[in-house]
Amino acid sequence: MKRLLSILAAGLLGVGAAAAQEPAGAELLPPGPGRDAAVRVCSACHELGVVSQKQLDPAGWFDIVQMMKDRGANVGDAETTEIVAYLAKAFPPATPAPAVAPPPAAEPPKR
Ligand code: HEC
Repeated sequence: MKRLLSILAAGLLGVGAAAAQEPAGAELLPPGPGRDAAVRVCSACHELGVVSQKQLDPAGWFDIVQMMKDRGANVGDAETTEIVAYLAKAFPPATPAPAVAPPPAAEPPKR
């Protein structure tokens, strides 16, 4: 009986560990402040891969989160700020627009 109990306990522990696991795709979101909120809120309706494939500046992420709220995402204002800041840092635009135009290419030397 004692043995059975310990098997049961081990089984329960296993279940507990599985329940504590993060939603599918959570590994796509790098660590940082606001990550846990993003994982929790943004995995409710779709995979987190949908989130991590996007690369936006803070204004772009704000618009996305706003869109998700229109679709029913349950995020308060403070959490919105936190999540937008996190996403903008974790998934910034791939090629930020250059601040100034690059100088024109130098003419090849003439002989
Ligand atoms: C209430 C459900 C819901 C929640 C919560 C939610 N989304 Fe979405 N999201 C959707 C739906 C539905 C789509 C896809 C269909 C569409 O684009 O209309 C989508 C699509 C997206 C897309 C792709 C849009 C595109 O233009 O490519 C991104 C990025 C996204 N979600 C990010 C997020 C982020 C970030 C969060 C967390 C703040 C989040 N979602 C939470 C419903 C949700």
